[in-house]
Amino acid sequence: MFDAIAGRYDLMNRVMTLGQDQQWRKFVVRTAGDPGQGCTLDLATGTGDIAALMSDTYANARVVGGDFSLNMLNEAKKRFADTDILWHACDANCLPFADGSFASVTFGYLLRNVDDAGKVLREVHRVLKPGGKIVCLDTTPPEKNVLYPLVRFYFRFGIPVMGKLLADDAAAYAYLTGSTMDFYNAAALAEVFAGAGFTHVGYKKFMLGTIGVHWGEKS
Ligand SMILES: C[S@@+](CC[C@H](N)C(=O)[O-])C[C@H]1O[C@@H](n2cnc3c(N)ncnc32)[C@H](O)[C@@H]1O
Repeated sequence: MFDAIAGRYDLMNRVMTLGQDQQWRKFVVRTAGDPGQGCTLDLATGTGDIAALMSDTYANARVVGGDFSLNMLNEAKKRFADTDILWHACDANCLPFADGSFASVTFGYLLRNVDDAGKVLREVHRVLKPGGKIVCLDTTPPEKNVLYPLVRFYFRFGIPVMGKLLADDAAAYAYLTGSTMDFYNAAALAEVFAGAGFTHVGYKKFMLGTIGVHWGEKS
């Protein structure tokens, strides 16, 4: 599915989030902090936005962008050909990196797509150095408040229709809606982070509570 939408992925992101998606990625990068001359991994890097912001923001960092979709990685390589980011094909369930390799690991919109979020988080914990940081951006199920009908309508109809018109793939964007509604709420996801061994776990929500950024540390 990600291979199929790679060419239109960035356009859909900008339109669907009303141009706010890059602000959330910048928040991810600021929260991860400067790895100094250490390595930082942006897992599920897709077309490379978070990896590129890391590289721009922290001049000495050695940035690795990892993903299992080769089409996504090819888009990333084309878009950021003038950087020294290392692009790496890898599966988040079984990372091809030694224990304690990274000062930080970031990812955007990964956990909703894996069978076992706890397993991926334990794998990220393994490749982090002691004191290393994890920062995760994803959609969260909307809260049942006064705006819920509006937000639900946008997820159920607005996003798949845009997906059809802009990316010619309504199914991929209906999947986004379904996987968001079925995903952990922000408080429950924080518990999964803690269960995977992370300390100082916290989170912040954006866009009417439909986007969450979670963070934690390997002690
Ligand atoms: C929605 S895109 C997010 C891309 C990017 N992080 C962003 O901020 O826009 C999700 C990405 O996760 C990747 N992905 C999903 N499951 C994965 C896995 N098990 N291992 C590695 N990458 C995975 C997909 O190939 C896709 O590029």
